[in-house]
Amino acid sequence: MGTKLMRIDIITLHPGLLESPFQHSIVKRAIEKNLAEINIVNLRNYGLGSYKQVDDAPFGGGAGMVMSIEPIANCIEDLKTERTYDEIIYLTPDGERFNQQMANSLSLCKNIILLCGHYKGVDERVRELYITREISIGDYVLSGGELPAAVFCDTIIRLLPGVLSDETSALSDSFQDNLLAPPVYTRPADFKGLKVPDVLLSGNQKQIDLWRHEQSIEKTKSLRPDLLEEK
Ligand code: ADE
Repeated sequence: MGTKLMRIDIITLHPGLLESPFQHSIVKRAIEKNLAEINIVNLRNYGLGSYKQVDDAPFGGGAGMVMSIEPIANCIEDLKTERTYDEIIYLTPDGERFNQQMANSLSLCKNIILLCGHYKGVDERVRELYITREISIGDYVLSGGELPAAVFCDTIIRLLPGVLSDETSALSDSFQDNLLAPPVYTRPADFKGLKVPDVLLSGNQKQIDLWRHEQSIEKTKSLRPDLLEEK
């Protein structure tokens, strides 16, 4: 059992969408080891009136519904009575584009709220009053913030100390040094004439490390030259 490093509260209208992503693989193990905790909050429980209404028509007209401020405000205020939050993040396609550097720095937070949007978005005053950061996982539009929230949690949780072993350390991931990871191989050394590069079978660790670094640079140059221009 580790000490809890991070707690993430996810406010959502579709808790079912977030059931599976945290029940497998590395994130599951991090939760089992008590290094991270994910708490799903059903915003419907904060809905107004007997219909538990959470949205309404936009002022000024137009298509689609807007998520109302009261249920979200009540929900966030409730959570805040229990602990203080480092960040209250709204997942939205018009947010700051998520990347590994942001993930690295956000992985140092202790308590985070993620707000998943739906419909035409949330009342602007939620953003003004409560949201400390707005994050997009890429330039495309999903039907809601739940899958982005799962992406966010997975990316952050694997960075927490103790979640990955030394050998699988996140430090060797693509993007950690703005380079793509080199190609990897396992047995068989020869598959229908397609051979594993000799250097990897040589046992010469210095040569192997050098080869991997060169491959990283070559791969980044040809696939993601923009990464080499950053910073
Ligand atoms: N909600 C809908 N699309 C999204 C995106 N690309 N990133 C974050 N939240 C979203």
